[in-house]
Amino acid sequence: MDNKINDLLKTMTLKEKIGQLYQAPYFSDVITGHAFDSSATIQRIKDGRVGSILSVHDEKVLYQLQKTAVEESRLGIPLLFAFDVIHGYKTSFPINLALSNTWDMDLIERISKAVAFESTKKGLHLTFSPMVDLVRDPRWGRVMESNGEDPYLSSCLAKAYIKGYQGNDLSHPDTIAACAKHFIGYGLSEAGREYNTVDLSKRVLYNMYLPAFKAAVEANVQMVMTSFNTVFDVPSTANKALLKDILREELDFKNVIISDYTSTEEIINHGIARDLKDVAEQCFNAGLEMEMVSESYISHLEELVHEGKVKESDIDDSVSRILTLKYKLGLFDNPFKYFYENSDQYMLLEKTRELSREAAEKSMVLLKNNQVLPLKKETKIMLCGPMIKSQDLIGEWAALTSKDDVVSIFDAFSKDKTLSIIEESGDEAIKNAEVIIMALGEPGNQAGEGNSKTHLHLADEQKAYFDKVYQLNQNIVLIVFAGRPLIMTDFANKVKALIYAYQPGLEAGNALKRLMYGDCSFSGKITMTFPYHQGQIPIYYNHYATGRPFDPQRPNYRYNTRYIDCPNEPLYPFGYGLSYGKFVYKNFIINQHKLNKHDKLFLQVEIENQSQYPADEIIQCYIQAKNFSVSRPVNELKSFKRVSFKAYETKTIDFTLDINDFRSYNINMEWTAEYRDYFVKVGPNSQDLLSISVNVVD
Ligand code: IFM
Repeated sequence: MDNKINDLLKTMTLKEKIGQLYQAPYFSDVITGHAFDSSATIQRIKDGRVGSILSVHDEKVLYQLQKTAVEESRLGIPLLFAFDVIHGYKTSFPINLALSNTWDMDLIERISKAVAFESTKKGLHLTFSPMVDLVRDPRWGRVMESNGEDPYLSSCLAKAYIKGYQGNDLSHPDTIAACAKHFIGYGLSEAGREYNTVDLSKRVLYNMYLPAFKAAVEANVQMVMTSFNTVFDVPSTANKALLKDILREELDFKNVIISDYTSTEEIINHGIARDLKDVAEQCFNAGLEMEMVSESYISHLEELVHEGKVKESDIDDSVSRILTLKYKLGLFDNPFKYFYENSDQYMLLEKTRELSREAAEKSMVLLKNNQVLPLKKETKIMLCGPMIKSQDLIGEWAALTSKDDVVSIFDAFSKDKTLSIIEESGDEAIKNAEVIIMALGEPGNQAGEGNSKTHLHLADEQKAYFDKVYQLNQNIVLIVFAGRPLIMTDFANKVKALIYAYQPGLEAGNALKRLMYGDCSFSGKITMTFPYHQGQIPIYYNHYATGRPFDPQRPNYRYNTRYIDCPNEPLYPFGYGLSYGKFVYKNFIINQHKLNKHDKLFLQVEIENQSQYPADEIIQCYIQAKNFSVSRPVNELKSFKRVSFKAYETKTIDFTLDINDFRSYNINMEWTAEYRDYFVKVGPNSQDLLSISVNVVD
């Protein structure tokens, strides 16, 4: 392959090489709605000055563009087609934040495989997924497409997504290239406001934000996208320390680095570039290879080479990485290999729908259950609330999925004639219901890019609706659809059961019906903390200890860390979620109390399901550094297992930790566990943990 790429490079003009670095928009952009001059893009394709096309999803248009590139450009180099297929192409799956609640890597891999299957049947080569930004602030709309607040879990998810998308062979017609984004720190936008300032220390960057990208690189992700924000005061897109020193050198990333949408020219707004030529020079020399939408490279790189400010050999390196990707995808053998006759036959297959339902069942979280669930078929229920018939349950970044394909709660429940549903409405009917099933939530388009919010409560009308029903009947099971954790405190105090369904996709209603009638158990556990109050944000489990911890014995002592009007604790902590199983953790033991570099630590805990319901339990293992040269989080997730239990079954669960699980960047930025004392802990969530001390020598 190297020889072929080198031979091709030798035949290319500088202009053609620079063309490979350009990802062009076409028609009107599906995301921003901007209209572009498509005839200019066509001419550029003919001139060999376009390497890739962004966000075109019409396969006929894609085919035409490929034909133009292959047949009408001088060298016939095929185009690379990229699109945001984030949680489903035609079959919608739960939003990614919900998918992370499953803690089920096998499921994630099966989902991304199914997503790749549909996408590649419609001509696509690359998806801008997975998004592995660590998130701590639900005001930020993009939390919906994240893996939540933990670096270890996000790393596992990154690997699973990439494995599912790319498989072992990118030239296989069912696999798609993946792009990890956004490098880096985007999830830390101040005050949760989109595209805002980011300020993070080098240690936080390495300990918290880098691990998921490291995992993505280890999983051989084919592309990494830069973020819109600055890191150490320099926009990521022009940040040499990030792109060359960390991503290329330290992580040893060998594939393509792409900008985000116009994030190159935005460095002018950041105040670090004078004009578009300066943009091209700074971004390219920082290591940014493919430019999305902006035209600084195609307008100025050639001139910069002639002026000696950019090296042609660096351009050759970047172009060869892009050509290599096309080669791996098999596009040089057959540029049309991802086009199919009757491609619709591959969409929305029954088995893909079933997978979506499995994902919805495993991703919804039961936050409260006052013995009202599971329901009995004969229980007289009333279905109500503004979201009960809603099909707006897909969420943002929906690709070609359609709300029309979504099964609402009302549809799923009312077509089941074995259920006892009160058909009438009105106050009397509400009073007569044994259980009220109420669905509330935020509209799908209130999360996602560009949808930061300061008010994280359900809309006033929904609250008023709830209060009215609550006056008549307090036996309420509340289902909430949302793209982020909202403030649920008042509702949680009142309802009998609270189900957080996120935006579950196609099979929403069917999954809820099966869960609520006990055909399967809830098992999802939240990966983003639910604040008790909006004023606590950002609130996340892996925060540092303070010098003046809160003292429950003296809750009103003024000079400890606390609020005077609100608890410190969240409403629901990271890792929390109920099931129909009743799991009791006991007999936690470890094989030794001292661990050195070459040893392993074996942990064992007995878990008993004391209920009549079979269910899956997500068992979590954390460590805590009792002392270290710098402050570390009060808990750090290091391992987890999702295990199925039969009714009344007891199982012994093992975890194995080694020195790496205790390491962190220390005062000298060395990756070490030092010679220190730690706790190892296991439990059902990040708050209710059994713990044992261990001494670690690195
Ligand atoms: O992939 C996205 C990115 O996450 C946000 N800006 C636009 C890109 C391409 O659509």
